Amino acid sequence: MAAQQIRPRTTVIVAISADGKIADRERSAARFSSPRDRAHLEAQIAQTDAALLGAGTLRAYHTSLPITNPEYINQRRDRGQPPQPVQIVCSASGNLDPAWRFFSQPFPRWLLTSPDKALRWQDTDAFDSIMTADYPFDWSKILQQLAALGIQRLAILGGGQLIGALMSQNLIDELWLTLCPLILGGENAPTAVEGAGFWAENAKSLQLLSVDPVGDEIFLHYRVQH
Ligand SMILES: NC(=O)c1ccc[n+]([C@@H]2O[C@H](COP(=O)([O-])OP(=O)(O)OC[C@H]3O[C@@H](n4cnc5c(N)ncnc54)[C@H](OP(=O)(O)O)[C@@H]3O)[C@@H](O)[C@H]2O)c1
Repeated sequence: MAAQQIRPRTTVIVAISADGKIADRERSAARFSSPRDRAHLEAQIAQTDAALLGAGTLRAYHTSLPITNPEYINQRRDRGQPPQPVQIVCSASGNLDPAWRFFSQPFPRWLLTSPDKALRWQDTDAFDSIMTADYPFDWSKILQQLAALGIQRLAILGGGQLIGALMSQNLIDELWLTLCPLILGGENAPTAVEGAGFWAENAKSLQLLSVDPVGDEIFLHYRVQH
């Protein structure tokens, strides 16, 4: 039997509408969750060594979420972690705009892209580190490389394409879904897990770890059963 490969523990953290959408049909920045949910997102990211986001998510928001709560920063220091997790952008095309606010936010930035697209970024100071992988990305290998770089806990911030790719390769361990009180509807609005999807008999099954209704939102914590 092949030895189990070492990779980071992966946790998806997303807000979904009551009909399972993560954004509207224009794939605009999703800002439908409450301040309580944004605090929850920061609390979850603060537990990790790095956060991974798809280029589509960065194109929608132009930002990511730095840790600002001093309590979390102190806890990170006590655990021997740097104040901010690394923000890793995954972009096969490398087509990102260095004028976005993301590039001046106070956290380390890494880029994961294909070798030819890395050239554009190599002589800039936009990213602290550039990882390359041939397309289609072999996520199992990429996660092993992240583990070798000291990333033990990885937050997956979305969007649906990125989560779909990782889910299809059985590389997601846990999900935090915040079920928000709205319906977005429509076939063009993305769900939390895009890509080809799974047949019912091969659906990923989940174990409910906790459920916490707060106001009109419900915080759901699941473990993926591998
Ligand atoms: N509700 C929430 O909590 C939440 C969270 C995050 C995002 N969102 C929403 O989700 C939408 C974006 O999601 P999305 O599914 O369209 O995009 P996404 O997954 O964020 O990004 C897709 C892009 O990321 C890169 N990428 C993703 N997976 C890849 C893979 N396996 N291999 C290589 N490259 C990969 C590619 O970049 P290139 O095109 O550069 O090659 C791809 O086009 C936005 O509307 C955003 O507001 C919502």
